[in-house]
Amino acid sequence: MAACSSSSHYYNFLFFYLLLAFSVSTATAASCSAADRAALLEFRSALSDPYIGVFSSWTGSDCCSQWYGVSCEPSTGRVADLILRGESEDPLITRAGRSGLMTGQISPAICRLNSLSSLIIADWKQISGPIPPCITTLTSLRILDLVGNRLSGPLPADIGKFSQLTVLNVADNQISGSIPKSLTQITGLMHLSLGNNLLTGSIPSDFGNLKMLSRALLGRNQLSGVIPASISYMNRLADLDLSNNKISGSIPASFGSMPVLSSLYLDSNLLTGGIPAEVLGSKGLGILNLSRNGLEGSIPDAFTSRSYFTAMDLSYNKLTGDVPKTLLTAAFVGHLDLSHNHLCGRIPTGSPFDHLEAASFSNNDCLCGWPLQSCK
Ligand SMILES: *[C@@H]1O[C@H](CO)[C@@H](O)[C@H](O)[C@H]1NC(C)=O
Repeated sequence: MAACSSSSHYYNFLFFYLLLAFSVSTATAASCSAADRAALLEFRSALSDPYIGVFSSWTGSDCCSQWYGVSCEPSTGRVADLILRGESEDPLITRAGRSGLMTGQISPAICRLNSLSSLIIADWKQISGPIPPCITTLTSLRILDLVGNRLSGPLPADIGKFSQLTVLNVADNQISGSIPKSLTQITGLMHLSLGNNLLTGSIPSDFGNLKMLSRALLGRNQLSGVIPASISYMNRLADLDLSNNKISGSIPASFGSMPVLSSLYLDSNLLTGGIPAEVLGSKGLGILNLSRNGLEGSIPDAFTSRSYFTAMDLSYNKLTGDVPKTLLTAAFVGHLDLSHNHLCGRIPTGSPFDHLEAASFSNNDCLCGWPLQSCK
C-alpha cells in the first residue's frame, strides 16, 4: 500500500514536472524576439498619443502576449501583426470617450519587423511624414492599411515587391506623386484604396493585370489621362471609383460586359463622348454616377427588365434628346438624376417616373410632363 502510494506520488511529481517543462517551453517560444521588441520601441518613440494610451502596455520583455496591438508568430516569437486603430469599438478607445489622435511619424524601424503580415496604423489623423520607403522590404505583408492619417510624399516606386499583398489602403492622407508602375505586379491584390490623396499622373495602362481586385477606389485625387481599357478585363471588379479626378477621354463600352461590376463612380471628371448603351444596359450595375462631366449625345434607350439601379446620376452633362422610354421596363430605379443637361420632350408616364421629384429633371432645355409642368 505504502509503495503504491509513493509510486503514485512519483508519477504525480513526474506529471507536474512535465507540465511545468512544457509550459516553460511554450512560454519561451511565444516570447518576443529581442530585435523585434527593439524595433517596436523605436517605432513607438517616433509617435505621440496624448489621449488614448495605446502604448501604456508596451513595457516588459514579452511584447507577444501583453503589448496592445501586437501579436506574434507563436513558434518564432516574431511580430506578425501590428494593429493600431484610432477609431474602433475596442474598449481602450471607447473608454477614452473620443477617437484617437497621434502626432509624429512612422519610423523606418518598422522595416526591421520583417515577419509582419498585417500592418494597420489607421485613423490617427495627425501622423505625418512619408511612408518609409524601406517598407517594401516587408515582403510577407498581406495587409497594409494606413488610412486616415496625414502621410505625405509618394508611394514607394518599388511597391510591386509586395508579392503577398491583398489589401492596400492609404486613403485619406496627403500622398502625392503618381501611381507607381510596379503596382500592377501585385497580382494577388483584392482591395486597393488610394482615395482622397494628392495623386497625379495617369492610371497605369496595364491596371487590368490586377485580376483579383474587387474594389478599386481611386476617387478624390488629381489623376489625369484616360480610363485604361484593360480595366474592362477585370473579372472580379465589383466597385470602381475614379470620381473627382481630371480623367478625360470616353467611357469604354466594354465596361458593360464586366461580369460583377456593381458600382461605377466616374463623376466629376473631364469625360467626353457619349454614354455607351452597353453600360446603361449592363445587368449587374446598381450604382452609376456620371455626374459633372462633359458627356454628350442622347441617353441610350437601353434599359431592360434586368436593369436594377439603386442610384443613377447623369446630371451636369451636355446630354440631349429625350428621356429614354425603356426606363419604364427597368426592374427598379431608386434615385435618378437627369438634371442640368439639354434634354427635351415629354417625360414618360409610369414607374419609375411616378415616384421621382421635379429636381430629378430640372434645368434641362424643354422637358415637360409630370413631375414638371404639363406639356403644351
Ligand atoms: C454623384 O456625383 C456628384 C458629383 O460628384 C455628387 O454631387 C452626387 O451626390 C453623386 N450622386 C449620387 C447619387 O451619389
